Amino acid sequence: MTDKPSDPTIAIIYHSNYGHTRHVALAIAKGAQKVLGETNVRAIDIHEVDWDFVDAADMIVLGSAVYMGSVTAEFKAFMDETSQRWYHRKWEGKWAAGFANSGGLSGDKLAVLQQICLFAMQHGMYWTGLPLMPTGHSDTDLNRLSGFLGLMTQSLDAPPEETPCQGDIETAIWFGEYLADTVLKH
Ligand SMILES: Cc1cc2nc3c(=O)[nH]c(=O)nc-3n(C[C@H](O)[C@H](O)[C@H](O)COP(=O)(O)O)c2cc1C
Repeated sequence: MTDKPSDPTIAIIYHSNYGHTRHVALAIAKGAQKVLGETNVRAIDIHEVDWDFVDAADMIVLGSAVYMGSVTAEFKAFMDETSQRWYHRKWEGKWAAGFANSGGLSGDKLAVLQQICLFAMQHGMYWTGLPLMPTGHSDTDLNRLSGFLGLMTQSLDAPPEETPCQGDIETAIWFGEYLADTVLKH
């Protein structure tokens, strides 16, 4: 593991076609920024990756909307684009975490988190999950979908300001704070 960073940074890379996964990414960023400050945490659209920031980050958080039980084609293209970084072990020793948003309650989000985790393992990163016991299963509960490998959120067919529900967004903020604490402490 690399030395404990004094001023750690987090890159949150996401793919979102309709804005719901973006909403979740911004909530994770909000939580992490509470701990690390605004400029040390960036939510980055997969089409606008700032590779310098990402390569220098202590943690990379990856999130995708679920399409056909998988990360989206755009997200997979991003994964493949990192193959030279994989070859040169550029991300080895960084922290990694993941999130998945989809329309279904399950929606096969677990498959997406597993894909993202495996990708992080290929890069030699250290995975951290979501160690948060569900408080219940209503729209205002934390971790209501009971994901532990990473963050699971569900969006309805409505504007991103309205969905995912309050509990999912609060879970995302909690996750961001937890991730920031993790890079600070380890
Ligand atoms: C081509 C396509 C495939 C989809 N496949 C799934 C799926 O496998 N499981 C699921 O729950 N939702 C599925 N959905 C719904 C999306 O997951 C949902 O609309 C998405 O998470 C919205 O995120 P976004 O607003 O960030 O794009 C699919 C949507 C599309 C357009």
